[in-house]
Amino acid sequence: MPKHKFQTRLDAYQKRVNTALNKYLPADDPPEHNLAQAIRYSVISGGKRIRPAMVYAAGEAMGVATDLMDIPACAVEMIHAYSLIHDDLPAMDDDDLRRGQPTCHKAFDEATAILAGDALQALAYEILAKDDHKELTPQHRIKMLSLLTEASGAHGMAGGQAVDLASVGKILTLEQLEHMHQLKTGALIRASILLGGMCQQDISQQQMEILNNYSLCIGLSFQIQDDILDVIGDTATLGKPQGSDEEQGKPTFPAIIGLEESQQLALEQHRLALKTLEPLGEKADSLRELSAYIVERRY
Ligand code: IPE
Ligand code: IPE
Ligand code: MG
Ligand code: MG
Ligand code: MG
Repeated sequence: MPKHKFQTRLDAYQKRVNTALNKYLPADDPPEHNLAQAIRYSVISGGKRIRPAMVYAAGEAMGVATDLMDIPACAVEMIHAYSLIHDDLPAMDDDDLRRGQPTCHKAFDEATAILAGDALQALAYEILAKDDHKELTPQHRIKMLSLLTEASGAHGMAGGQAVDLASVGKILTLEQLEHMHQLKTGALIRASILLGGMCQQDISQQQMEILNNYSLCIGLSFQIQDDILDVIGDTATLGKPQGSDEEQGKPTFPAIIGLEESQQLALEQHRLALKTLEPLGEKADSLRELSAYIVERRY
């Protein structure tokens, strides 16, 4: 497959955020446990780093200096990594493969995986709160923190995961499905885009509105494409078990409206995302390419 247009930017964002993550993740364990090792195993193991890329691309569109965005970029990836570790647990999706290697609870044990997720969530908030981020005022950091905590909690990702689990084996309406996707995946994607924009401390209400509308479109298209790839992808490319959703009777877009209509819907969200960016001109090109990447990706 030819290299996607967004890939060059994504490579650069990945390199940046990986260096920063390496700095913030705990390095050593005491002799009694291997929590830091489990955390590093799950975070450093790969992954597209698409949420950090969202922070950087949104910030660039608002004229933010790249190094100002490393902390929010790390924070959203930590929340994401935590959500994946818990999502794979036997009590949730019970998956054994993630990013091409055994899931955290398989490589370590369930208790360590639960704690690795807990610790990553706490670390995400810790790095945003700390005054290492001194270019941003304390009031501004609190605003960023409340956005991220809200996106992660009962009215965001965790709430969406609860709906997902409660919906196994049920046929949801399209509206219910979209709502679940907006929470379980869309909320953190929205936070990633808005945090990038908020690094510009005097961002206007109107610019925030544009980023917000854009984020809602790509949040939905991202999870629709994830559902599609569970059907048409292959385990080796995905790095996670293909067909896991169907096997578990998960409520997904292909299960409810079929594959072709799901693909149309994802493309429609991409077109809408591009439309929302029109007022921003050329400086939003990273965001345009990012939206295309989301619906064209193969893993
Ligand atoms: C997978 O996310 C989980 C969802 C929220 C759909 P990603 O596709 O971003 O996973 P990685 O980080 O690249 O492994
Ligand atoms: C996971 O959705 C969403 C979160 C982790 C919040 P999925 O269960 O579809 O993710 P994958 O397919 O296992 O990566
Ligand atoms: Mg899941
Ligand atoms: Mg899963
Ligand atoms: Mg999935």
